[in-house]
Amino acid sequence: MRPPLIAGNWKMHTTPSEALAWFGRFVPALAETPHAGVEVLVHVPATHVAALAARVQGGDLRVGGQDLSAHDQGAYTGEVSGAMLRDAGATHVIVGHSERRALHHEDDATVAAKAAAARRHGLVPIVCVGETESERDDGQAEAVVLRQLRAGLAELAPTDPHELAIAYEPVWAIGTGRTATAGDAQAMAAAIRAELRDLLPTLADGVRILYGGSMKPANAAELLAQDDVDGGLIGGASLNEHDLLAIVRAAAETHAAVPAADDRRPGPNGAKEDPT
Ligand code: PGA
Repeated sequence: MRPPLIAGNWKMHTTPSEALAWFGRFVPALAETPHAGVEVLVHVPATHVAALAARVQGGDLRVGGQDLSAHDQGAYTGEVSGAMLRDAGATHVIVGHSERRALHHEDDATVAAKAAAARRHGLVPIVCVGETESERDDGQAEAVVLRQLRAGLAELAPTDPHELAIAYEPVWAIGTGRTATAGDAQAMAAAIRAELRDLLPTLADGVRILYGGSMKPANAAELLAQDDVDGGLIGGASLNEHDLLAIVRAAAETHAAVPAADDRRPGPNGAKEDPT
């Protein structure tokens, strides 16, 4: 069974001292919240990583970066390397978020180079893919997402499914309050899993596929209950510790409710079927 991964993405919010105060409230509250089997992670601004990673050392909450340089070091003013994030205590890093693609013109090749840079420095890249609204309206959603997926993984050669994760984030659902239906999220996650079976045949069933785009306590349980949705990448709602905890709780309940997934066989469409 794939352990759910609940990842907050704080984007450019909070100062380091506000973030430390937030962790001061969240860490004890998480300890009180049953979350067996659920991995919890918060992607914070690079300036916050060292202090927050030190704050959570030895616990089960982890800290990730939101972006990294494709380069290892050098004259790249303003960039943050994978080695810097890792040494500061990050374990994961978001790569190819749609805001980076749209606002900073990151193309598929850059995303691939960043994912590879993350692995060189022992970070788990969370590779984001997702279509725009017009691409969906044009019937291109799956083609766009699978192209981004193939390109984003082009430079990786993982040997363990937990060396990477995929986040399916439809661009039209990010920060808009609009969420993909659970059925649409599952359909795309299943298409991603099918493509992973082609790209990484021995690992595909263990790679976590997250949904992102206005996930919140009110819709998390239904999204997380989908067979191929293994967690969430959560922006706005992750800034509120009560909302993030509620989503963690939903993941824990869904995880506990799933029958031993390994006993179920993929059906003709990749959907899990209970053993007969
Ligand atoms: P949102 O952001 O939850 O605020 O829609 C998700 C993301 O951008 O990762």
